[in-house]
Amino acid sequence: MISTAAYQGGPVLGIETSCDETSAAVVDESGIRGLAILSQDAHAAFGGVVPEIAAREHVRSLGVLVRHAMQQANVVDEEIGGVGVTAGPGLVGALLVGLNWGKAYAFASGIPLLGVHHMEGHLFGTALEHANAKPPFIGLLVSGGHTILLEARGWGDYRLLGQTRDDAAGEAFDKVARRLGLAYPGGPEIERVAADGKAGRFSLPRPMLSSRDHPSDAAYFDMSFSGLKTAAAMLASELERNGGLNGLVPDLAAEFQEAVIDVLVEKTMRAVKFTNCHRVVLGGGVARNSRLRNCLSERLADGGELYIPSGRLATDNAAMIAEVARHRLKNGERSSWSLNADPSLAFPGLVCS
Ligand code: KG4
Ligand code: ZN
Repeated sequence: MISTAAYQGGPVLGIETSCDETSAAVVDESGIRGLAILSQDAHAAFGGVVPEIAAREHVRSLGVLVRHAMQQANVVDEEIGGVGVTAGPGLVGALLVGLNWGKAYAFASGIPLLGVHHMEGHLFGTALEHANAKPPFIGLLVSGGHTILLEARGWGDYRLLGQTRDDAAGEAFDKVARRLGLAYPGGPEIERVAADGKAGRFSLPRPMLSSRDHPSDAAYFDMSFSGLKTAAAMLASELERNGGLNGLVPDLAAEFQEAVIDVLVEKTMRAVKFTNCHRVVLGGGVARNSRLRNCLSERLADGGELYIPSGRLATDNAAMIAEVARHRLKNGERSSWSLNADPSLAFPGLVCS
């Protein structure tokens, strides 16, 4: 095996192709120098991400996006000091496109490569915009594939407090939106429609919020959105049988959104209380939801700190991947040239106690 070069400093090129956003970025110690994101719209007609289409679209656009990010950063190939690429979790075909691109680029340039965990990326994304979004903090990661509540004791040193037992929060948004006839991705659509509705007209469950649970019970911090999704779908069917959904979608969407947010906010506040850590960092696509942002900031108003990424850094982007890589490369880590994509990659440094 040919050994990899050590990181000598310099801007890091980040690549993200785990799902349906193709993205490249250049990041250095001053922050984001260049960032290009292409949200693939080829999936909209199918109501969800089609893995084969995602991979082909990444192949088509990644090279152009890398050039775009480098031009924006005003750097040439010779100045790039390392490459960070999402190695998992995600769609394997999609991951392989970015991984092989990054590997080839790093190998040809004689610079180190680092495989990054996508969700650790979401944890670092917020720190690119807020200097104080650094450990120790409670992290709430809410995306289309994951919902994780953790305590970050240091970068790379994470304690898992809770996670979803079934659907991710974003996935539930997407599926309920689809059931209500709304477009993909469903999160922003539910939020848009819910703005004209009223939560409370219908009643949906708030799963796993029993006040009898104790922090030593896994159920205290864990979440579940599958039953809530089914309850929303059953309510929609009942309303359809009794005269149709016409005019009722905003109230149903508002109640569903409120139920998800009640659970996320309550679990986060339990984590704050349990750890006595009052700094909360939000990450992942669902962090774009303004009702979630407002509810959390209200609950943390009294002495807490809340750090929220801007829209472009909440959803998938390569700047967060480059930032994880920059941090880990600086610490002397690097991946071997045999690095492979892993759709169920374990979160590095995440432990259960
Ligand atoms: O982090 P992300 O871009 O991709 C994954 O890693 O999955 O998150 C995408 C998810 C989708 O499920 C999408 O519906 C959701 O984030 N999302 C939202 C909003 N914007 C995006 N969910 C609720 N409200 C929003 N405004
Ligand atoms: Zn993501």
